[in-house]
Amino acid sequence: MAITIKFQSENKQFHLSNKDISYIFQLSEDGKLLQLYYGKKVPQNRDYSYLIEMHHRPMTTYRKDGDLLYSLEHLKQEFPEYGTTDFRHPAISIKQANGSNLTNFTYKSHQIITGKKTLEGMPATYVENEQEAKTLLLTLEDQLLGVEIELSYTLFDKFPVLTRNAKVVNNGVNVQSIEQVASLSVDLPDRDYDWMQLSGAWGRERYVKERKLQQGIQSIESTRGISSHQHNPFVALKRENTDEFQGEVIGATLVYSGNFLMQAEVDTWDVTRLQAGINPFGFEWKLQPGESFTSPEAILVYSDKGLNHMSQTFHQLFNEHLIQKNWYKKDRPVLLNNWEATYFNFNENKLVNIAKQAKNVGIDLFVLDDGWFGERNDDSAGLGDWFTNKKRLPQGIGNLARKIKSLGLQFGLWIEPEMVNKNSDLYRNHPEWILHTPDRKSNHGRNQFVLNFGNDEVVENIFQQISAIINESELDYIKWDMNRPLTNVFDINLDANQQGEVFHRYVLGVYKLYEKLIRNHPNVLFESCSSGGGRFDAGMLYYAPQTWTSDDSDAIERLKIQYGTSMLYPLSSIGAHVSITPNHQTNRITPIETRANVAYFGAFGYELDLNQLSKDELEKVKEQIKFYKKYQSVIHNGTFYRLVSPFEKDQNHMTWIVVSKDQSTAIVGDYKMLNKVNQPYRRVKLQGLNPDIEYKIDDSTYSGKELMNVGLITSDASSGQINDQNNRAETYDFDSKIWVLTQLEEH
Ligand code: DGJ
Repeated sequence: MAITIKFQSENKQFHLSNKDISYIFQLSEDGKLLQLYYGKKVPQNRDYSYLIEMHHRPMTTYRKDGDLLYSLEHLKQEFPEYGTTDFRHPAISIKQANGSNLTNFTYKSHQIITGKKTLEGMPATYVENEQEAKTLLLTLEDQLLGVEIELSYTLFDKFPVLTRNAKVVNNGVNVQSIEQVASLSVDLPDRDYDWMQLSGAWGRERYVKERKLQQGIQSIESTRGISSHQHNPFVALKRENTDEFQGEVIGATLVYSGNFLMQAEVDTWDVTRLQAGINPFGFEWKLQPGESFTSPEAILVYSDKGLNHMSQTFHQLFNEHLIQKNWYKKDRPVLLNNWEATYFNFNENKLVNIAKQAKNVGIDLFVLDDGWFGERNDDSAGLGDWFTNKKRLPQGIGNLARKIKSLGLQFGLWIEPEMVNKNSDLYRNHPEWILHTPDRKSNHGRNQFVLNFGNDEVVENIFQQISAIINESELDYIKWDMNRPLTNVFDINLDANQQGEVFHRYVLGVYKLYEKLIRNHPNVLFESCSSGGGRFDAGMLYYAPQTWTSDDSDAIERLKIQYGTSMLYPLSSIGAHVSITPNHQTNRITPIETRANVAYFGAFGYELDLNQLSKDELEKVKEQIKFYKKYQSVIHNGTFYRLVSPFEKDQNHMTWIVVSKDQSTAIVGDYKMLNKVNQPYRRVKLQGLNPDIEYKIDDSTYSGKELMNVGLITSDASSGQINDQNNRAETYDFDSKIWVLTQLEEH
């Protein structure tokens, strides 16, 4: 095993390293954790205490009487507290019975274990084989309170990855209020970073946005109860010269699906404190004596080879150590979802007719979206009643399922288990089950209210209902949607002083239901969704290996969305469908080739009424599905590189490539937004190929070296005068092209 975690007792230094990275910290004389180094691997068995710099600085405060040097304000730390000489934001804040927030956590003990612990009730990366990871469990203690914090640091064998989390244990006699507990806190020695985040809104999720770090705080967060469309729980700190292909970058994410905060605080001496965890806003957890609280897992990825390498690390880690093992490397079914095909306007006949055509073109899985249950004839009723809508499907959902399956298709259903309409039996029977504040009006979103998933009775009721439907219809797939943020967040079953727990308890309830469903129905493939990509996060991926990326299904809009999403999420998780034109979100008309060329780089499917397509288009669809099935394992399990960004350069093109692990096959996707004339000739240097082999592209051959150093010519007729009568293929707005590179067989 290439991982070593060492404690040098002579200088009290912890040095964690694998083949790529080192993470070093040291105990101060009074047991505080001082961060020394995080980055590319450096030798172990050395003393790095020279990295602790303490100079006397006016207007600071000191830890020891009579001493003018030891101030936490001057020191880089691992798990800081506020108010005992450090003035930056803390990693832990506990309010005590006397009203004080001051704590004094110091080193108590540590343990190094092979493998990795699971987090109770929460998703996290895992190892199957203990040799794949090593973990340092380090216990801090506040003796006055009798409270311990167990910090866990896991290094993986194969990746430049460090995962962290914190568990607070109350061994004392008093109740403690946790007001903040960060999953990750690390002080970096300078601020020479560009902060990159993935932000946006419904329909334009995860756009790449950047800014320079400055003295002060820069942060992203969610206050909506879900990880949100607005900010994805991901941030990268990259050096000024870092790009996709080279340079240093640190990427951080949280395995969490609720309110989060990710923040970089640059202090007055340019030290950058990077923190991630549950958002302290609206959070307060009462910890009774004998109880513990576990923070979500944070993941840190280090790359000195640019953003692509960071992303590839996340992709591999998520594929191999986060999604459920039974889905790893398993081909995903090509699906057809009826939402944009019919919306609520369907009956059994219509669905079966679409399904027949789906079978005909080679689709594997038919998914019936919203509208099949309760009194769901529009979006004002039915949520909460997870049994057949008899008006629409008089013979029952089981009957429809059997019909679809008898065509040779798999069958899947949409659910939105966390929600209820007032017009539903569930609400009529249990109006008290929604999140609401007594004597105040609750707010709706899309006519629906949020069930209190902190209440086990609610979770159990929904589990029983969904389980019955899975059994009745022998479901192969479930799309789990969530279409509004949380408001009126209050739990009538909790004490007044526990209301700060409700957001997190809600998330734990969602995880509980997912856990019960995937354990009881391990063969059901889950796709998570939240009005598109409002809950696209690592927490969800643990249960649902794919996510509906965005409600914006327009191929051109999807370029930016999927480009940003690929920063950390693997292609196998990025739900991407070919939809009808004019597109329902943008009214844009794009070629069906381009729609597929974009959707290939994800978990591929269709979202249209195939019966509306011409014969010619249906033939194309057949070919597309064949193509995808042939190359799906390259796309999902290969190494993905972003080559030309839609956010940079001319902002009119985008190119990416995925290369099979053995480098024998590669697929390049190249996309143009608008057609222009007299444009520069274009060539794109490819990445990840074997320099020493010959690749066949159409009827020509090129060496890997050529393609990576000279580039692939991607110019089209728009680099001249389009109608130049030179028999060049005409080009249009929204054109795209796929190149398949295959290793030339040696004869
Ligand atoms: C929002 C989802 O993102 C859509 O794909 C669709 O499932 C609708 N909800 C159905 O209400």
